[in-house]
Amino acid sequence: VVDISKLYAQTGAFTYDPGFTSTASCESSITYIDGDEGTLLYRGYPIEQLAEHGDFLETCYLLLYGELPTPTQKADFDYRVTRHTMVHDQMNRFFLGFRRDAHPMAIMVAVTGALSAFYHDSTDISDPKQRMIASMRMIAKMPTIAAMAYKYSVGQPFIYPKNDLDYAANFLRMCFAVPCEDYKVNPILARALERIFILHADHEQNASTSTVRLAGSSGANPFACISAGIACLWGPAHGGANEAALKMLEEIGTPDRVAEYVAKAKDKNDPFRLMGFGHRVYKNYDPRARIMQKTTHEVLNELGVKDDPLLEVAMELEQIALRDEYFIEKKLYPNIDFYSGITLKAMGFPTTMFTVLFALARTVGWIAQWKEMVEDPSQRIGRPRQLYIGADKREYVPIAQRG
Ligand code: ACO
Repeated sequence: VVDISKLYAQTGAFTYDPGFTSTASCESSITYIDGDEGTLLYRGYPIEQLAEHGDFLETCYLLLYGELPTPTQKADFDYRVTRHTMVHDQMNRFFLGFRRDAHPMAIMVAVTGALSAFYHDSTDISDPKQRMIASMRMIAKMPTIAAMAYKYSVGQPFIYPKNDLDYAANFLRMCFAVPCEDYKVNPILARALERIFILHADHEQNASTSTVRLAGSSGANPFACISAGIACLWGPAHGGANEAALKMLEEIGTPDRVAEYVAKAKDKNDPFRLMGFGHRVYKNYDPRARIMQKTTHEVLNELGVKDDPLLEVAMELEQIALRDEYFIEKKLYPNIDFYSGITLKAMGFPTTMFTVLFALARTVGWIAQWKEMVEDPSQRIGRPRQLYIGADKREYVPIAQRG
């Protein structure tokens, strides 16, 4: 029943592209990836340089405005973000409605969407000022909401933001401080977390970003759009992969079992895949994975974790896979998720929080992409077509005459 000629006549062109592997959904000047070369640029700046020299709020400014900030612009931006870190006190009650063992991603989807019920002065997307306040609120409140989701899951009281701390340091404190004890943020861990946030800040038109754009194309408010993005990120093929990679390393257990798992991954009759390997776009080493590997070593050294069995398994796996014909031929290299789980676990985060941290960092990318879309005069509501393969037209049969 598919009548391609009719569809073609309506539009002048018609493509069928499952997974959108070769369809551009927009023009964008935010992030550039060259998957063959293993290059990732934010607004033209290599990810390696941003992660080495910059901080996360500088990256946020860059993604939102297109240029690195001057010192005055940076100070003003930091001030505006820190003014918005608190959530409305009534929102605390939202958390109380969840079971104590609720997955923190479920809480994130709900609470982020609920921001639109509190901040009516930043939901009119036709007003540039409201769009900017909404952007600030999202970037500022995500660490607070994420930390509250964590605290709720471990049965501890919420810790309020402390705005003289840097972005990642503030988040670590909100997660790990307890009211009756002193807590000092470890600057090495805070710096490592800033770097992890920078690495995850944007990645052009991935599934969750495309979800945010599609939701936003209907004119939905930015809080609702980000909530949709978080829901999409939750899936194991997207934001959930670092959790899966860590589980796999734990299952392998010791370096001498690595070869057995590599053989399993190559076996066509076995559905097992090496988690943290391969990427839809990178057919070379994921540039973020290299930085992540260095960060993992720094964090484990700082915490005095010697001979970490997971790290030993990871390094052995990487070495064997990089020399193996199967992985070379299919261009399967470690991706960012391969090392990030080990690092976050060492910092004290439970696996259920891994995707939450990804969502926190990706929020600025979602916002920048949403803003670019809303401000693009050529943008229309996203409305993919389909190839209908169902029944031909047929007559309705009353229920008494069926069967
Ligand atoms: N282990 C073993 N074989 C693999 C792996 C892997 N991790 N990844 C791909 N392959 C093989 C496939 O079996 C396939 O082989 P074939 O050509 O003989 O059929 C070939 O490589 C191509 O794989 P596709 O699934 O077609 O590639 P696609 O681009 O659709 O998938 C994906 C990319 C989903 C990332 C895939 O590599 C994968 O499942 N990796 C493991 C999960 C993971 O690490 N995801 C994180 C992605 S990064 C992120 O979201 C931040």
